[in-house]
Amino acid sequence: MKLSKKELISIIQKTESFINPKIELEQYCIDANCAVDIIYYAGFEYNDINNAFIIDLGAGTGRLSIASAFFNASYVLSVDIDMFALEILKRNILSLGLSQVIFPMCADIEYFEISRRLLPTDMKVTTIMNPPFGVQKRFADRVFLGKSFNFSDVVYSIHLEHPKVHKFITNYIKRYNWKIDNVFPFNLVLERTFPFHKKKAKQITVNVYRFIKKNNKNFDG
Ligand SMILES: C[S@@+](CC[C@H](N)C(=O)[O-])C[C@H]1O[C@@H](n2cnc3c(N)ncnc32)[C@H](O)[C@@H]1O
Repeated sequence: MKLSKKELISIIQKTESFINPKIELEQYCIDANCAVDIIYYAGFEYNDINNAFIIDLGAGTGRLSIASAFFNASYVLSVDIDMFALEILKRNILSLGLSQVIFPMCADIEYFEISRRLLPTDMKVTTIMNPPFGVQKRFADRVFLGKSFNFSDVVYSIHLEHPKVHKFITNYIKRYNWKIDNVFPFNLVLERTFPFHKKKAKQITVNVYRFIKKNNKNFDG
């Protein structure tokens, strides 16, 4: 990667964010520091970004997608249900000259599917996502998790740091042939997005989970 971390954070910070964020879709932008930290972690610690096929579920305005693209991902598929968010993402892609790397797609994750047979067998498929926490729509987060396990080699997912959430995730993945490989805490800065947000910015603690398939010999990282 030709850019320094500081430069990448500055680029992400300047990207356009949601104009009329939808509460029911839990639309807020991940802060630039956090987005870059997560991609650096996945990229440097596990080699999960470089030359990989990145799928960003609930991509919104694309901060995680853009950080991945600058970290030399081969392709980034950025999926979101909201056309208005994807319009903003498209503008971000165009202004940064990333249209050969990032491909936006409008789909409801519940019905989204991708066939591994269509992808090169030697390309790692890494899903990176900051899904709705399920505050507005119960179980929104589990739809994202379950879906990502269908087509990924490795999954990174951001969740609220809470023992109940951790317990839920631990139990939920038992039905899949997947396991938690690592959990790392992050402080995420939530900028005021909705009228009920009282402070200009609020720090929340989240956990970023790295999930891998059980018995995966090829892509265990
Ligand atoms: C917390 S925001 C994260 C946005 C972006 N990934 C980021 O980190 O800045 C969650 C995103 O998930 C999208 N979303 C919510 N429900 C969805 C669904 N069923 N299918 C696809 N996208 C969905 C929202 O539109 C929103 O952009």
